[in-house]
Amino acid sequence: MSTLKNLKLSTDGSILTITINRENKLNALNMETLAELKEIIQSVYDDKEISGVILTGAGEKAFVAGADITEFSQLNEMNARKFAEEGQEIFDLIENCHTPIIAVVNGFALGGGCELAMACHMRIATGNAQFGQPEVNLGIIPGYGGTQRLTQLIGKGLAFEYLMTGEMIPAEKALAHGLANYVEPDKTAALEKANVLLEKIINKAPIATGLIMDCVNAHFNKEENGFQTEANAFARCCGTEDFKEGAAAFVEKRAPKFTGS
Ligand code: COA
Repeated sequence: MSTLKNLKLSTDGSILTITINRENKLNALNMETLAELKEIIQSVYDDKEISGVILTGAGEKAFVAGADITEFSQLNEMNARKFAEEGQEIFDLIENCHTPIIAVVNGFALGGGCELAMACHMRIATGNAQFGQPEVNLGIIPGYGGTQRLTQLIGKGLAFEYLMTGEMIPAEKALAHGLANYVEPDKTAALEKANVLLEKIINKAPIATGLIMDCVNAHFNKEENGFQTEANAFARCCGTEDFKEGAAAFVEKRAPKFTGS
C-alpha cells in the first residue's frame, strides 16, 4: 500500500480504525484523501484479518466538513459528472463491502462528510455532531449520493427539507430521524460503542452478515428484486459449514464457533 498522507490507520484485534487526518481543514475530503480512502477500502475487501472497520475524523470538532471546497474552482459542467461519479464509486465500495463499516461521527458531517457517513453501514454520533447537506448554499447539490441516501435514511419529506434549506441536523434530531443509530456523549464513548457493536457482529457467521448487507442494499436497487436476492442468499447460507455449526451448537447447548466457511 502506498504511503498514506491524509489517513491514519490503527488496528485492535481484527478491527481497523480509519481516521481522516486533516484536522486543521476539518478533515475536508480533497482528491488525495479520497484516493487514499478508495485504496484502503479496496484492501479491506481482500483482507481476511480485518472483520470490522470504524471510520472517524481526527480531533473533536469534525468527522468531515465536506468535500474540499478549495478544489471546487476546477469544476465545470464538462468535468463535474466524472467528479461526482468517481466519488460515488468510492462510497458504493463502502456500502457494498461485506466487512461492516461504522462511522463514528465526531462533530460536523457536512456535504461529502454526511454522504460518507451515510455510505457506512451504521452511524454513531457524538453529542456535538451536526449532520447536513449544505451544498445548496454554494449553488450546487450533493454529488456523492447524498440526495439518494438521505432520502433512504430519513424519508422523502425530511430529505426535501434538509436538502433544500441546507440546515444542519443536530445529533439528537439525527437519532430521532434514523440518521444516527446512537448518540454518545463524546468521541471516546462513541468509539467504545462502535467497538461493542462490531464485536457482536464479528462473532456471528461472516457469510450470513455479508449476505444480510447485500439483501438490505438490494432493497434500494431498482434493478434488483430484494425478495429474490434474499431467497438466493438464504440458500447460500444453508450450504455453509457455519450453518451446520450454528444448528449443531444450538442442539448441543453451546456457543457456536463460526469459521466463515
Ligand atoms: N473545504 C475546505 N476547507 C474547509 C472546509 C471544506 N469543506 N470546511 C472547513 N474548512 C477549513 C476552513 O477553510 C478553515 O481553514 P483555514 O483555517 O485555513 O481558514 C478550517 O477548515 C477551519 O474551518 P472554519 O470555517 O474556520 O471553522 P468554523 O468553526 O468557523 O466553521 C464550519 C465550521 C463547518 C461551519 C465551516 O467550516 C463550514 O461551513 N465549512 C464548509 C461546510 C460545507 O459547506 N461543506 C460542504 C461542501 S460541498
